[in-house]
Amino acid sequence: MKIAVSGKGGVGKTLIAGGLAVFFMQKRFKTIAIDADPSPNLALTLGMSPDETRLIQPISENAKLIESKTKTGYSGVFRLSFTVDDIIRQYSVKTPLGPNLIVMGTVKSMGAGCTCPANAVVRALLRHFIDEQGFAVIVDMEAGVEHMGRGTAERVDKMLIVTDAGLKALETAKHIHHLALEAGMKQVFLVGNKIGNRAQREVMVHFAERNHLNILDFVPFDPKVAEAEIDGRSPLLDKNSEAVRVIESLGDKLTSNLT
Ligand SMILES: Nc1ncnc2c1ncn2[C@@H]1O[C@H](COP(=O)(O)OP(=O)(O)OP(=O)(O)O)[C@@H](O)[C@H]1O
Ligand SMILES: [Mg+2]
Repeated sequence: MKIAVSGKGGVGKTLIAGGLAVFFMQKRFKTIAIDADPSPNLALTLGMSPDETRLIQPISENAKLIESKTKTGYSGVFRLSFTVDDIIRQYSVKTPLGPNLIVMGTVKSMGAGCTCPANAVVRALLRHFIDEQGFAVIVDMEAGVEHMGRGTAERVDKMLIVTDAGLKALETAKHIHHLALEAGMKQVFLVGNKIGNRAQREVMVHFAERNHLNILDFVPFDPKVAEAEIDGRSPLLDKNSEAVRVIESLGDKLTSNLT
């Protein structure tokens, strides 16, 4: 299963992507978290220290490896024959919370247009997972809508669009939803995050109804998440966090036939 997590800046994509990755890993999926944000920070959410994260080499900067994996001698044509286990071994780092993490770095676009080798590798990574059973790939996407091309949509099964109850985040969610459907995606869901009260929940429900959007769940605003962040801990380590508990139940919904 391949899940992309998108949404406006700061809505909670990384928290939710990280939480889902931990959920799938605990369910014994071979789990790969892909940080596709050009300002990556999923590593911190998966329990790495700032010093450790600085040592991760993003795929886009690993020119030698990319070349060895893709070069055919023809410009614009890339050889892409490597297995999922290869990918995990050579491209990912094991995080303290368990999931294997791949950091993409600055790859211009995940869409079809760009023929740079780094992009070819990323597209190949996603394509490879299509046929593999027992794998969960969670992509923490760049904020906003720019990255939403056909190339991404073709390669993930489910798109989660995270939003808070503010109009800007909701409008961005609507735009991403539109582009995702246009690109042929079938399973596109809104996830409400940082929901502080019933009124906020209702705002979101009404917005979703008016715009024919599906809401998968509501993650509450949780001060424990903010506290952990300030203390430099991963919020996902706090088993008493209500937000973390709901994110795990999102994983259950995604694996059940309900979605
Ligand atoms: N449910 C929640 N309750 C309280 N705080 C939250 C919640 N979800 C996220 N946050 C806080 O909101 C901030 C943004 O979260 P996060 O980094 O996951 O968002 P993002 O969408 O990935 O942001 P960016 O667009 O910058 O990548 C963080 O400080 C995080 O701790
Ligand atoms: Mg983020």
